[in-house]
Amino acid sequence: MSTIASRPAEPEVDAVRHHYEVGNEFYRLILGASMMYSGGYWEPGEELVGALDTAQERKLDAFVRHARAEGAEHILDIGCGWGTLMDRATRLHGVKRATGLTLSRTQREWIEGLRNPALTTRVESWSEHENPGAYQAAFCVNALEHFVSSSLPPRERTKRYRFFFQQVHRALAENGRFVLHTMTAEAQPMTREILADLKFLQRSEFEGMHIPHLHELAAAAEGLFEFVEVVNERESFARACRAWLELLAADRPRAVELESEEVVARFERYLDIFAYTLEDRFFNNFRVVLERKG
Ligand SMILES: C[S@@+](CC[C@H](N)C(=O)[O-])C[C@H]1O[C@@H](n2cnc3c(N)ncnc32)[C@H](O)[C@@H]1O
Repeated sequence: MSTIASRPAEPEVDAVRHHYEVGNEFYRLILGASMMYSGGYWEPGEELVGALDTAQERKLDAFVRHARAEGAEHILDIGCGWGTLMDRATRLHGVKRATGLTLSRTQREWIEGLRNPALTTRVESWSEHENPGAYQAAFCVNALEHFVSSSLPPRERTKRYRFFFQQVHRALAENGRFVLHTMTAEAQPMTREILADLKFLQRSEFEGMHIPHLHELAAAAEGLFEFVEVVNERESFARACRAWLELLAADRPRAVELESEEVVARFERYLDIFAYTLEDRFFNNFRVVLERKG
């Protein structure tokens, strides 16, 4: 069987790897010990960088509760990054087994280095994952933004989102829950600065990335899932971007040494774009808790 890891180059896979196969040590410098690449839950008054790891752990614990995953036999993390959610769920919340999907081979290496026998990491796209009814809970944390290409016409994009929810529906056991954390776009007037920055995001850093509108997701999940909760946590992601920028600035020469001036400058630019577009309500970041129908 051909797997994504062994197949020759594919443009969409390459676009993801361009960003996610920058070295693990570089990511450790930016993300800190928690190695989460998504928003965190800060309490009022907490320090940005000082409380980064706590904020991430708080979010993960909340997600496990929302998914009712405590003690689950098997959970799925779609776009699992460096495996922190799976690791914490199996070590602290009684989850027996966790499977993570990622396109990044360096992320899989990192997860293997955690030496947690309860984890399986597959270098495989969500669209190819086949394990029907196997999971009591599923998660997708700031990864959906990569799953549907902006080059598709709107109707084809809708079909792709529908296929995504069908895949998650198929993978879940009866009444299984799905916790989705994703950026969404607001219909906002465009400025020249935002247009230039979006062009950079979509053409250079995350080629083909499409940030959906909330209604696209609602339509795509209809009939498959019950919506349990929809909460806009825009600031949780903006804060995380600001924290990563501070960590990068604090150790910049080392970051350049690990990668290059060009990579560091790219990260500085894109993190600032995400931070300010979230702060200015151009993008949102929704936590959506869904329950499989039937
Ligand atoms: C921003 S990271 C989020 C990682 C993790 N969920 C977290 O919160 O730290 C996005 C993840 O999505 C994964 N990804 C992108 N496209 C994918 C696809 N088609 N199938 C599976 N994973 C994908 C990337 O490899 C990466 O691990």
